[in-house]
Amino acid sequence: MERLAVIVLAAGQGKRMKSDLPKVLTSTVDKPLICHTLSAISALQPEQVAIVVGHGAALVEEAVTVALKAGELCLPSVSFPRQESQRGTGDAARSALPSLRGFSGTVIIICGDTPLVSPQTLSAMITAHRRECAAITLLSAVVPEPRGYGRIIRDASGDLVQKITECRDCSPDERLIREINTGVYAVDADFLAESLSRITNENAQGEYYLTDIVEQAVLAGKKVRALPVFESDEWLGVNTYLDLHRVNQVILRRRIEQLLLSGVNILDPRSVIIDERVVIEPGVTIGPNTQLLGATTLRRGCSLEGNSYLKDTFVEEGAAVKFGVRAERSIIGRNASVGPFAHLRPGSVLKDSVKVGNFVETKNAELGANSSAGHLTYLGDCTIGERVNIGAGTITCNYDGFKKHRTIIEDDCFIGSDTCLIAPLSVGAKSTIGAGSVLSADVPANSLALTRPPVKIRQDYVRKERRGE
Ligand code: UD1
Ligand code: CA
Repeated sequence: MERLAVIVLAAGQGKRMKSDLPKVLTSTVDKPLICHTLSAISALQPEQVAIVVGHGAALVEEAVTVALKAGELCLPSVSFPRQESQRGTGDAARSALPSLRGFSGTVIIICGDTPLVSPQTLSAMITAHRRECAAITLLSAVVPEPRGYGRIIRDASGDLVQKITECRDCSPDERLIREINTGVYAVDADFLAESLSRITNENAQGEYYLTDIVEQAVLAGKKVRALPVFESDEWLGVNTYLDLHRVNQVILRRRIEQLLLSGVNILDPRSVIIDERVVIEPGVTIGPNTQLLGATTLRRGCSLEGNSYLKDTFVEEGAAVKFGVRAERSIIGRNASVGPFAHLRPGSVLKDSVKVGNFVETKNAELGANSSAGHLTYLGDCTIGERVNIGAGTITCNYDGFKKHRTIIEDDCFIGSDTCLIAPLSVGAKSTIGAGSVLSADVPANSLALTRPPVKIRQDYVRKERRGE
């Protein structure tokens, strides 16, 4: 078995993003750039991975460590060598060498801002590299708009790579070349160490360019191969938010195409964001402006009218999520109906055929089967039984200024409109609460409770202004 190690370049600030966040932590629709790179790498099962950090080092280190601990990434031995000041990609790669001391074999070097490179392409590069016994094999791409990328300069025959010239150092003729460097390389470990010690910073940016090792290999009579990536868009690097937008479009397009082919009806694919962990069964309809994030699952036959945001939410078979629903860490039961304009906060559990209507907010609330809260209601920290009707304007007063308290409403209760339930409180099964009540004591089963003041009537009454006083 030939040995494989990886260096990820992730120390740059990302000046062109004009953001304080280290660039590699900028998130695509679903995860930070660096997590895309690392998950492609994990498929290669390298023996070690050195992630070069510098700008915002602690943040990058923490984000990667958290993803590793959460099992979102599976990598063997990961180290975080520091690049003290950001003096270019060559200097960054050099900073990783002490971590790879004693290693011999193939080193993959990959920029942490190239999120779409696939494991298949990386494997193909490694295979070609080893088969040809090259000193360097790099991934190139022929692209319509090469601006900003390093150009691959070949000899007259077009076979042999001579060097890579960075965009800013290109002559007008070189600028016309459309074969670009993707920033992904397989390099022989011994050659890497030797050549990095020789690169200089004599160029337009005054930086140590990793790409200069290509010319060094050529001058030393070693083999350099540039392997064009065939899958379109894999080469996209992220230097600006415009690049990020392009990457997001690719990620979403791929995912949405898969879903459409699998039997999911997405009415307006352009306005939908779907995170990679989301599971959607065939026979689901998704309306415009929908964001589905985290560990969200949509079971067969449920429908989303549009304008909704669902995060870590489970939607059971046949449920209807109407216009304008926001739900997080919630469960929407079979044939339940939510919205329009409802807010399910974490811990909301709606059992089968529950109805939650407009302007209803729930939090840490369980609603039993066939119960309904149709209008203008707050249900927080409560357990509601089956077949309960919650009238318009009902409020669980769950907070006394210090602590949260629970409300329990048992099966078959009728809570009249505009009721305040001052928790802790319980209402026994089959009880009725009169509209406008403020309840501060438990209500036993099978009872009527109401706190409504009696109506006073004065007959033949005329308001002052009518009397002209
Ligand atoms: C680089 C390549 C270019 C290629 C392009 C592909 C060089 C000199 N140029 O250019 O040929 O077409 O990627 O996307 O390599 N970084 C560090 N330390 C530094 C500088 C950069 O760790 O001192 C990291 C960055 O965090 C980033 C990566 O290296 O992840 C690439 O750096 P960037 O400045 O974006 O290089 P490009 O100009 O895009
Ligand atoms: Ca870049």
